Amino acid sequence: ALQQSFTPRAQKESHRSLNCVQPQASYKVAVLGAGGGIGQPLALLIKMSPLVSALHLYDIANVKGVAADLSHCNTPSQVLDFTGASELANCLKDVNVVVIPAGVPRKPGMTRDDLFNINANIVKTLVEAVADNCPDAFIHIISNPVNSTVPIAAEVLKQKGVYDPKKLFGVTTLDVVRANTFVAQKKDLRLIDVDVPVVGGHAGITILPLLSKTKPSTSFTDEEVQELTVRIQNAGTEVVEAKAGAGSATLSMAYAAARFVESSLRALDGDSDVYECAFVQSDLTELPFFASRIKLGRNGVEALIPSDLQGLTEYEQQALEALKPELKSSIEKGIGFVQKQP
Ligand code: NAD
Ligand code: LMR
Repeated sequence: ALQQSFTPRAQKESHRSLNCVQPQASYKVAVLGAGGGIGQPLALLIKMSPLVSALHLYDIANVKGVAADLSHCNTPSQVLDFTGASELANCLKDVNVVVIPAGVPRKPGMTRDDLFNINANIVKTLVEAVADNCPDAFIHIISNPVNSTVPIAAEVLKQKGVYDPKKLFGVTTLDVVRANTFVAQKKDLRLIDVDVPVVGGHAGITILPLLSKTKPSTSFTDEEVQELTVRIQNAGTEVVEAKAGAGSATLSMAYAAARFVESSLRALDGDSDVYECAFVQSDLTELPFFASRIKLGRNGVEALIPSDLQGLTEYEQQALEALKPELKSSIEKGIGFVQKQP
C-alpha cells in the first residue's frame, strides 16, 4: 500500500510485473533527527515499509519514547533508539540508508540560508560519523539549506576519503510532490497519473518545475505557468507562514522523504525501473551539484536524465539561467565552510 501511494502510475505498472512476490524485509535505515517534526512521522512511514528489517532512530534527546511507541506496530522492522553523540556510531553500524532531517527549521521572515550557521555544523558532524561507520550507505540530506548542506556533506566525505557521489542525495522529493499536487488540481487531472520533474536546487527561484515536461502531456497558458511556478517555489514559505512560528513542513516532508527512502530501497533490492528527482553531483550544467531526474540502482545514481533539460520553453530556459548564480553561490558557501576549517 505504501509503495502504491508513492509510485507514479507509469512506474507502478512495470514494478508490479517485476515483483509478483511480497518483498523480503532486509534493509537497515537510520534517521538522524528522529525526534523532530519530520523525524517522527518519517519514522512511522518507514516502519510501514516491507523492505525494512531495522529502523535506527537517533536524536540528541526525546527519541526513547518515539522508538518505544513505534516498536508496538506489528510491521517487520525492529526499532532501536540511540541518544546523543556517544551512541551515534552504534546507530550507524551496517546501515544501508541514512536519512538526515536534523537541524533547525525556518520561522516566518527567514530564508533557508538563514539556517546555515546552525545546520552546517550539525550536518558536518553527522556526516563525519556516517563516513566513519557506514561509508557505503545511501545518504539522504533533508536539513536546510539543502543547496549548501549537500556540498558540505560531499566535502566531509572527500576529506575522509570515502566520497561516492552516486550515494549522496539532497532530498527534493517534496518539490515534485507539491508540483504534482498543484498541477493535478489546476488542470483537473487524476493525481496518480501526474509527474512533473523539478530541477535546479531547493530554495526560492532555484526550484524550477519543468511544466513543459509534465506527464501526461499537458498544455499550460503563460499565466498558468507563471502562477504554478511561483506557487511551487514558494510552497515551503506558504507552510512556514501558516504555521506562524511553529516550524516548517513536516508531514508532507515526511511523506516525500519516505517515498525517496522507499525508492532507494527498491533500487537496492534490484528493481531496475526507479526514477526520482534529487539534488546530486551533476554534469548536466556547469554547476557541480544540480537537482534533476535520476535513475536509481543498487549503487545509487545509475544515470542522470539529460533529456529533461533539452527542448525547454523560453520561460524555463530563462528561469534556468536566472537560478544559476544563486545556486552556485550556495554551493560554494557549503564547500568553503568545510575547506576553511583547520
Ligand atoms: P525540528 O526542530 O522539529 O526537528 C529537528 C530535530 O533535529 C530535533 O528533534 C532536534 O533535536 C534534532 N537535532 C538537532 N541537532 C541535532 C544533532 N546534532 N544530531 C541529531 N539531531 C539533532 O525540525 P524539522 O521540522 O524536523 O526540520 C528539520 C530540518 O529539515 C530543517 O532544517 C528544515 O529546514 C528541513 N526541511 C527540509 C525540507 C526539504 O524539502 N529538504 C522540507 C522541510 C524541512
Ligand atoms: C520546504 O520546502 O518546505 C522546506 O525546505 C522547509 C522550508 O523552510 O520551507
